[in-house]
Amino acid sequence: MQASSRVVTSNQSGLHPRLARTVLRHLHHPHRSPLAAHNQTVWEELRPLLQADPRPLVLDSFCGTGMSTALLAQRHPGHLVIGIDRSAHRLHKHIASPGANYLLLQAECEPLWQQLAGAGLRVDYHYLLYPNPWPKSRHLQRRVHGHPGFRDLLALGGRVELRSNWQLYVEEFGVAMYLAGVRGRVRQLPEAPALTRFEDKYRRSRQLLWQYRGRIGYSERPDTRS
Ligand SMILES: C[S@@+](CC[C@H](N)C(=O)[O-])C[C@H]1O[C@@H](n2cnc3c(N)ncnc32)[C@H](O)[C@@H]1O
Repeated sequence: MQASSRVVTSNQSGLHPRLARTVLRHLHHPHRSPLAAHNQTVWEELRPLLQADPRPLVLDSFCGTGMSTALLAQRHPGHLVIGIDRSAHRLHKHIASPGANYLLLQAECEPLWQQLAGAGLRVDYHYLLYPNPWPKSRHLQRRVHGHPGFRDLLALGGRVELRSNWQLYVEEFGVAMYLAGVRGRVRQLPEAPALTRFEDKYRRSRQLLWQYRGRIGYSERPDTRS
């Protein structure tokens, strides 16, 4: 793997001016696109597995080679850990750990979130580690928080962790979560062994890394209203 990687550059200098409008539109006017055949096939294989497996869920969305999926399965031994990435090329580079007890799916995340949420499923933890940044201003809707699928991510619930080497992406995500009523925290990612291949690459090129953590459906302060 390359030891150096470029920092994200963007024609955006601050939060996207249409961030709030875009997020609120997706929250209030859900858009349902038909499921593409390849995602449908994955969902039809996944559904009976979920019905047969009572373990609570951990999602590793945009998992790339699945390095993080394997590490997260060690971190959450009582959970069913599912990594999702659309790239067969990346997934084929996966190095399976002995006794692997996780699933790797080749699919787009957003339609799968839609199916999972539509089936009434909830997750305990949802990791979104270094999704593509889409740094051009006109690509806001391709970012996780600017996409209509953000609504399904919220419906899935759980503790959400997003990481990026682009601070603005993480801040925008935090603002979008705030607009959806979820309180969380953005901070610089503390030093620790890399959870993903991209994290390792960014660390080696001494880039600053950023993290959002929040918990959907959790209020930090007790509700004192009667
Ligand atoms: C920057 S890489 C990060 C991969 C991995 N999380 C890591 O940190 O090593 C972004 C990944 O997102 C995947 N991806 C992009 N858009 C996607 C989508 N809509 N659904 C599923 N995977 C997607 C790409 O194939 C790529 O593997």
